[in-house]
Amino acid sequence: TKIFAYAIRKDEEPFLNEWKEAHKDIDVDYTDKLLTPETAKLAKGADGVVVYQQLDYTADTLQALADAGVTKMSLRNVGVDNIDMDKAKELGFEITNVPVYSPDAIAEHAAIQAARVLRQDKRMDEKMAKRDLRWAPTIGREVRDQVVGVVGTGHIGQVFMRIMEGFGAKVIAYDIFKNPELEKKGYYVDSLDDLYKQADVISLHVPDVPANVHMINDKSIAEMKDGVVIVNCSRGPLVDTDAVIRGLDSGKIFGFVMDTYEGEVGVFNKDWEGKEFPDKRLADLIDRPNVLVTPHTAFYTTHAVRNMVVKAFDNNLKLINGEKPDSPVALDKN
Ligand code: COI
Repeated sequence: TKIFAYAIRKDEEPFLNEWKEAHKDIDVDYTDKLLTPETAKLAKGADGVVVYQQLDYTADTLQALADAGVTKMSLRNVGVDNIDMDKAKELGFEITNVPVYSPDAIAEHAAIQAARVLRQDKRMDEKMAKRDLRWAPTIGREVRDQVVGVVGTGHIGQVFMRIMEGFGAKVIAYDIFKNPELEKKGYYVDSLDDLYKQADVISLHVPDVPANVHMINDKSIAEMKDGVVIVNCSRGPLVDTDAVIRGLDSGKIFGFVMDTYEGEVGVFNKDWEGKEFPDKRLADLIDRPNVLVTPHTAFYTTHAVRNMVVKAFDNNLKLINGEKPDSPVALDKN
């Protein structure tokens, strides 16, 4: 049995080796290259592939992989928004993802950044760097004084809710899929509009499906409280970035946490030092004292990366052996 893995980073190698050690009978080979129509042939002879990339799994890529004889594909991440599902279905692909590798990684980052925005930490850090040690006007807002609105109460949203409650915040939530436990405890408001109207901090934890694209826009921002903090550690397309910039400029939005960005593919996870930065709008956001940009690193912890590698390989082996994997991906359009 052979598994071929794509886009393996240095920080994933120890966990890949750990899995290999525990599965000495499985032949594991890998590359640091992404899966493209050109690199698909590297998988020839393998029974399955383990992949992660933000680049689209296009019809051509899937076809090239099928031509190389491989249709069992295990993603090391959660999001499946970049797969041509129709083509995958047509070619008889079997796909798995890792929906729960560490919800805490993302929730914790969202919570930390939200708290930092509320305390104006970036402004204070900038003052420190300039040896300006005055207090005013960099006064903070306490988390416990905020109503925190959580959009999406899946694994990540629920951990985020617990952390914010730990700080003493009042937490309200919205989801089209209501969790019975949370419903019993009275967390849910009736509509997104209600959440926008009541929340001082709004954190998004929903997937990038068509219905959610640009859910944060001029209209929804207008409904929000003055001085709202918006947190997007989910998917860039959920936020109309230009609308948020208008909200920041007018002062309506107190601060913005942005770990994901609609223009991130090809820009994040690259070193631009000394090179011409390709996105002026992003550069402007990075430079703002009340905007915390991170390059899609909320997930990036040792705990998460280990689980992503190990669970994806476990899933792929199950697919190969004809067993039921832990997290099959439905190939119907979502
Ligand atoms: C996901 O798991 O879907 C993520 O967003 C993290 C990924 C960029 C590795």
